[in-house]
Amino acid sequence: MDKITIFDTTLRDGEQAAGGTLNVQEKLEIARQLEKLGVDVIEAGFPVASPGDFEAVSLISKEVRESAICALSHANAAAIDRAAEAVKKAAHPRIHVFLSASDIHLVYQLKKSRQEILEMACKMVAHAKKYVDDIEFSPMDASRTDPDYIYQIVEEVIKCGATTVNIPDTVGYAIPGEFGDLIGGIFKNVKNIGKTVISVHCHNDLGLAVANSLEAVKHGARQVECTVNGIGERAGNASLEEIVMAIKTRSDIFKNLSTGVNSAEIYKTSRLVSELTGFVVQPNKAIVGANAFRHESGIHQDGVIKMAMTYEIMDPRVVGIPASSLVLGKLSGRHAFKERLAELGYDLDDAAFQRAFTAFIALADKKREVTDKDIESLVAEDKRTIADAYHLDRVQVTCGDRGIPTAAVRLVAPDNKTISDAAIGTGPVDAVCEAIDKIVKIPDIKLTEFTVKSVTEGIDAIGEVLIRVESKGITYTGRGADTDIIVASAKAYVNALNRVVTAGKTKK
Ligand code: KIV
Ligand code: ZN
Repeated sequence: MDKITIFDTTLRDGEQAAGGTLNVQEKLEIARQLEKLGVDVIEAGFPVASPGDFEAVSLISKEVRESAICALSHANAAAIDRAAEAVKKAAHPRIHVFLSASDIHLVYQLKKSRQEILEMACKMVAHAKKYVDDIEFSPMDASRTDPDYIYQIVEEVIKCGATTVNIPDTVGYAIPGEFGDLIGGIFKNVKNIGKTVISVHCHNDLGLAVANSLEAVKHGARQVECTVNGIGERAGNASLEEIVMAIKTRSDIFKNLSTGVNSAEIYKTSRLVSELTGFVVQPNKAIVGANAFRHESGIHQDGVIKMAMTYEIMDPRVVGIPASSLVLGKLSGRHAFKERLAELGYDLDDAAFQRAFTAFIALADKKREVTDKDIESLVAEDKRTIADAYHLDRVQVTCGDRGIPTAAVRLVAPDNKTISDAAIGTGPVDAVCEAIDKIVKIPDIKLTEFTVKSVTEGIDAIGEVLIRVESKGITYTGRGADTDIIVASAKAYVNALNRVVTAGKTKK
């Protein structure tokens, strides 16, 4: 079997998606789950870009021991020094240096000649090599670069020490046949190609990121860069779950190829990334979307009942989608709840289990049936609680077609004092946010997005609210869940403001 290295860039390119900011603890939580998923390399961030990124890469390097930890760097010595510092505690450190290669970038952005770029690339790979052995180099915008020049760059950076050379389709412009030819051309034309691994990094602007990556694998690429749920710059990156499951499901095409990913962890990882980034997974998303294994047509349902393979090319359990549709109610005891949590893949410590059980009993009092999705939402709600931050204690609104929407709110402040205030607004949610603003007092905060969705069907469903706010040009996401959507909105808004406050503290 030839192994395809899975290089996950959810925490770097994925986090570059507009509105996808994660704090350091959230990045660590995702990194731990990626390690459980079995990815080979975690690109944990871009240390020179911000102190928060540096801190996240350093922490992940210390805590995650199985996967290699990679830091991205511009092709300049100071950025490489910072990347090296961030990964120095990693069990398997990697530095990834990138530099534009296409004429359009050279002429309009960098104002440098091809020869200058070639020399810079080599010099910087050699500089990074002083710190670690595992060096990746990316000629950015490779798919719009003269292939002969790409062959030349690949050959030179290998000479200078690059152990992986990544070929990015930075702007998602390539078409599968053409991209495959580029990769095939590299294997034919680069003399020292045997000394490196060829990687690909495809963006999804034309919806072809996965197709291009798989075509590259067929032409010899042995590392694929991807993100969970396909999140990333603009239209996103190649989706990890689609790449992994395509290679696994079509082993007749991808003969003797495999990845080290434990596919049973895919669904859980997808939920975690969606939860923490605030990016909802579209229902028809391959592998992890809510409808990916749902059959609506009568003929299909009939076929699946008789023999699942008639209309299902994958068993949902293989990607970790819980098979049971068992529902719990208020008479289900601690034992049944604990078992259900374990089946859903949660391993909570005693305190977290007690909090989850209390929340479950409270929910079961309001809702006749508590489903897996409700339980996932309860656990997620608990994880959102940020220590040393504001907590919602009470919220009360009056509204209607004649009254003036008014909200009274009581928060517990980080010093444990309770603070109350009230406000009027254009509607109940606006009034709640105004009242919270009066307590938390962050200048120039702007609410940019507000979405409500129900976790399950039915009038008694839990409502999940996602709020994005902007402060000093940075977007922060907050989420909250409750059977009352006003309460869920208040929780989500407090959660978003807490993130602004925490980010302010880490920047100082
Ligand atoms: O899309 C791109 O070219 C990148 C590079 C940094 C590899 O993300
Ligand atoms: Zn990219």
